[in-house]
Amino acid sequence: MSQLAICGGNPLRTQPFPKWPLYGDEELTQLKEVLDSEAWGGSVHGPKLLELMDKFAQYQGAKHGIGMNNGTVTMEIGLYALGVRPGDEVILPCFTMIATPMAPLKLGAKCVFVDIDPDTYNMDPKSFESAITDKTKAVIPVQLYGQPCDLDEIARIAGEHNIKVLYDTAQSHGAEYKGNRTGKYGDFHSFSFQQFKNVTAGEGGMLTCNDEELWSYTCWTLNEFGREPGKPWYHHKELAWNQMLSEFQAAIILAQMTRLDQQTQTRIDNAKYLNKRVREIEGIEPMEWAPYTTRHGYNFAPMKIRQEEFGCTRGQFIEAMAAEGIGVVSPVYPIPLYQGEMFRPDGTVAGALFPTSTWSKVPCPAAEKACQEEGFLILQHALLGTHKEIDDIVDAMWKIKANVHELRGLEAAGVGNPGSNRASVQAKEE
Ligand SMILES: Cc1ncc(COP(=O)(O)O)c(C=O)c1O
Repeated sequence: MSQLAICGGNPLRTQPFPKWPLYGDEELTQLKEVLDSEAWGGSVHGPKLLELMDKFAQYQGAKHGIGMNNGTVTMEIGLYALGVRPGDEVILPCFTMIATPMAPLKLGAKCVFVDIDPDTYNMDPKSFESAITDKTKAVIPVQLYGQPCDLDEIARIAGEHNIKVLYDTAQSHGAEYKGNRTGKYGDFHSFSFQQFKNVTAGEGGMLTCNDEELWSYTCWTLNEFGREPGKPWYHHKELAWNQMLSEFQAAIILAQMTRLDQQTQTRIDNAKYLNKRVREIEGIEPMEWAPYTTRHGYNFAPMKIRQEEFGCTRGQFIEAMAAEGIGVVSPVYPIPLYQGEMFRPDGTVAGALFPTSTWSKVPCPAAEKACQEEGFLILQHALLGTHKEIDDIVDAMWKIKANVHELRGLEAAGVGNPGSNRASVQAKEE
């Protein structure tokens, strides 16, 4: 008789995991204040946005914030402010969300994809260094899943070559490197407040920085129709953007921030317990904190499956977990970005406005392995419950391992093939 739920047995868990996003009275109060204020927007930075820019920057260890519509346009405007123009090269990992390369490509720059460190899945500084040319203008290291990059090493390499650094910190609110929030490093950090981030207004973004002049130009000119502080509203110094975060979004994010520290601590405690238990399962390896990580933001808890040792493929494992009632497991990015249709084999990019929006890559074996075989994630809201939730996740892994032979019969039905499972739907949450 079959044991595994995917083969007709009973699922291990029938209760839902904690839901996400969460809201409470704080959001309602904040939203009512905006509604009552008669200051809903109007192409200017409103009071809630100004308050949030200060609070969020401080929270990240930076001096200034610039609130924008999302964590994609933040990178486009940030790179523009740093001087990225058509024909420049921008280095970034191939293992990230599509937003990261889209920002430089929109500006007519060339994207140069580099590899990740297999121990953290963040950009490998050695791979970054190997891709530098005399055209390299900027680098976008991505701080994935809540874990910082090796900030000192990246600063050293970028400094030696006079390269601007814009961190894509969309997934790592509140992470710490060697005891400090990461905002003091680099030229900019770009954050997202999209639905699946640990602080969310459904959509939203923020740049943080420390340089007064860069902040002033980016915030009050580039993100406000080219205006200049102290000049009339109809004075427009140069072509620019209007991508301001709305007062309603700012209000929700201010409310979300009141819970962030307590939620982060719960995620850390649960992830530590999860990792401790998972270490005992042969064939599954939790991703450990890098030696320099002193606070993990846990937007995901990343893990690796060694398929031969565990006994089935990653796709089969994830579908079997979902059938057990553990639908909070997702594969990592399924392909390195350069394998996507947008990136044509001749180095051109589909849909590009500029002929200079091109791409190239250095060898990326670690990213290919992570994408194709080994990487998977536990979604952050599963870490917001109790040890009972964590026990169910781990017990389901043990159950699958003990009955893994049952999965072999499902291969012909395509279970676990890329694109066949609900996990590929969940992957979009990233
Ligand atoms: C690593 C990374 N970069 C950039 C983004 C883009 O942010 P947004 O969706 O706010 O544009 C996201 C998430 O959506 C992300 O996960």
